[in-house]
Amino acid sequence: MSAKNSVTVIGLGPMGRSMVKAFLDAGVEVTVWNRTAAKADAMVELGAKRAATVAEALDANEVTVVSLTHYQAMYDVLGQATDHLKGKVIANLSSDSPENTRKGAEWALGHGARYLVGGFMSQGDDIAHPDSYLYFSGPQDLFDAHKDLLRPLSRQEYLGEDYGLAQVFYQAELALFHAFLIGWEQALAIVDRSGADIDRFVANASSHPNSYRDFMREFAEAAKAGGWGDLHSFKMMHAGAQHVIEASVDVGVDASLTETAQDFYQRAIDASERAGRPVPVYQLLRGTDA
Ligand SMILES: NC(=O)c1ccc[n+]([C@@H]2O[C@H](COP(=O)([O-])OP(=O)(O)OC[C@H]3O[C@@H](n4cnc5c(N)ncnc54)[C@H](OP(=O)(O)O)[C@@H]3O)[C@@H](O)[C@H]2O)c1
Repeated sequence: MSAKNSVTVIGLGPMGRSMVKAFLDAGVEVTVWNRTAAKADAMVELGAKRAATVAEALDANEVTVVSLTHYQAMYDVLGQATDHLKGKVIANLSSDSPENTRKGAEWALGHGARYLVGGFMSQGDDIAHPDSYLYFSGPQDLFDAHKDLLRPLSRQEYLGEDYGLAQVFYQAELALFHAFLIGWEQALAIVDRSGADIDRFVANASSHPNSYRDFMREFAEAAKAGGWGDLHSFKMMHAGAQHVIEASVDVGVDASLTETAQDFYQRAIDASERAGRPVPVYQLLRGTDA
């Protein structure tokens, strides 16, 4: 348990503001600091305390939650008050590469702080959404000591001691998310530009979420065995991608995402024919197709 039911939040973008509200709603005292000071006004109106400087923000509490655009911003901000880091706990929930988070942890430890890394798998900035959750990595004892204080933020998933792990999981999920969102927008554009009813399409297309879950599991099992598919299935997927490209281009929709997908199947076909055995797309992505 943290000694005090209070916390500092540094960074008041959409995520930081949601965190401040969640803490205040749970009865946690919150001190805030943000580079653009005016963004703290609304938080102060809700009941947060304003710190005038980064040093004051760090001094206010044992635990500081950092919510900034990237790790460079952490150096820019906490770098203003490194002599106030000693003995403090920094929980950095900002996004960055796993390697940068490991370096960030080393930097904070070098200034006498203890460190937790978070990866916020939230439904946008709606951290109260039942599907929002928060990956953590870093020392288990540190997580155990502060998990109750941090619980208002979202459901927690502690992954392990390696500081980089939370961002390995977070960035891997985002790799899927970006392709999914752009693919979804392409689908909507095909329907819209074909003059069809978007609402009716959405009602159908979103009615089978278990289908995606089952493909995720099936492909994960296949990945453990080297990857999904054989030459026949790569050719089938290549031909299918061609139909999506035509359905898009015929109505003026950008098909470059599907062209990229088709290119993967073409590469899998070429590699399989060269090797005389299936070389799945997974091997191309994993960099182990040679
Ligand atoms: N928004 C989401 O839906 C979402 C969901 C999950 C995870 N995330 C991740 O959570 C983190 C925070 O998200 P967000 O949407 O709140 O981010 P954001 O809007 O990009 O920025 C948050 C904060 O970063 C500060 N900042 C950026 N560069 C700075 C610098 N060089 N020095 C000082 N302060 C700096 C901004 O200060 P100013 O106000 O002064 O500009 C702002 O307070 C990001 O890493 C994001 O990728 C976001």
